[in-house]
Amino acid sequence: MTKFWGSRFAKKTDSLADQFSFSISYDYRLAIYDVLGSIAHANMLGKCKIISKKDASEIVSGLKKIGKQLEEETFKFDTKAEDIHTNIQSALKKLIGPAADKLHTARSRNDLIALDMKLYCLVELTMIMDLIAKLQKSIIKFADKHQDVIVPAYTHLQAAQVVLLSHHMLAYVEMLDRDKNRLMDTLNRTDVMPLGSCALSGTSLETDRDFVTKELGFLATTQNSIDSVSDRDFIIESLSNLAMLGIHASRISEDFIIWATSEFNFINIDWSLCTGSSIMPHKKNPDILELVRGETAKLCSNLNEILILMKGLPLTYNRDMQLDKPPLFESVEKSKEILQLLSSLFTGLKVNKKVLKERINDESFFSVDIMEYLIKKGISYREAHDIVGTMIKECVDKGNKIADLSKEELKKYCPKFDTDVKELLNPETSVKMKKSLGSTNPQMVKKQIEGWKKKLL
Ligand code: ARG
Repeated sequence: MTKFWGSRFAKKTDSLADQFSFSISYDYRLAIYDVLGSIAHANMLGKCKIISKKDASEIVSGLKKIGKQLEEETFKFDTKAEDIHTNIQSALKKLIGPAADKLHTARSRNDLIALDMKLYCLVELTMIMDLIAKLQKSIIKFADKHQDVIVPAYTHLQAAQVVLLSHHMLAYVEMLDRDKNRLMDTLNRTDVMPLGSCALSGTSLETDRDFVTKELGFLATTQNSIDSVSDRDFIIESLSNLAMLGIHASRISEDFIIWATSEFNFINIDWSLCTGSSIMPHKKNPDILELVRGETAKLCSNLNEILILMKGLPLTYNRDMQLDKPPLFESVEKSKEILQLLSSLFTGLKVNKKVLKERINDESFFSVDIMEYLIKKGISYREAHDIVGTMIKECVDKGNKIADLSKEELKKYCPKFDTDVKELLNPETSVKMKKSLGSTNPQMVKKQIEGWKKKLL
């Protein structure tokens, strides 16, 4: 049997139509979920006496054999059977004979595919959450190791103020934590069991859907058969979460691509994540990070694809919905690779402390600190901004340094200035002086690192 529905058909389907509509080339990934869902379903049919106990146990033991073959990778997928459901059903028939024909009682492929996809999402998104936690840990380790390092921070990619490298790293950890939380949130909404809704209206057979829910470990059972077979929100949400994760991965990559240029030279990316040039022997290119940035385009376009796919579909099931799979599978698989590669990045990352020290030896990084010095002495923010702005302009124009200004020269800009302002022209002082919650203050950052360690380990 290569089709579930051949008998009503007056004619064989066109071979190109077959090729066009078969999904086994990608939905083979759902095999194990189809088997697990079918085992729970067969147990329910037996328990509810819809099929005999004997048939149920024959079906279950046949399905378990198929499960084992899948685990051992010896299961032979039949590319002539249109989808994964047909593949499993045919294999079962070959294994146990006529009892297999009773498995598809009180269900349809419409609710079955919804179940398979939900199980896939539950497992894969959990794995992605674990990989995010792993990446967070490798970032924390890197941050912890370099707690004394200060780096320039940028707005508009123009040097702005100095911060702790570890503070910058903790920004990534926060971003990734939101990604993890979003996935958790999606998992909770996905964890509702749709099987038994059948084609769309339910069944006249006396099934026990809650039994299947418990067997499979779902949190709840879907409450509307029409919604059960029509809903793809969980896939849209998953793809949206992965697009956001991709954007974060891309921005992290971009930071390091810039930091690894010979112009910046703040860090060295491990050789294992770089490639050379076929013509320029001196090159060490950050290709892997560039490809992480590039693959993110796919993570975003896959979200777009499913949004466009779903937006005009009438309830309930439409075959268009088969096409939710390639974008989901691709985004899941790419995300896992990206997370693992970024974890390796942080493990092998070297910091060029000397270069960084020289780079932050620049008075312009401390203009806000000087402003706040004046604010603390009662000058308004606006006036302080003007005073420091004028002072910096004149120093730049004349090629002077604030550090070299005499007390009198300083007082010309503002009588509130004293020579102690020069103590601010120092990166260590700059970070230490920050007091606000969530700032780059070393004590606070250290506390945060400890907090993350406890939370993640
Ligand atoms: N391969 C189909 C899909 O992925 C399975 C459901 C088919 N249902 C149907 N009524 N043709 O959506």
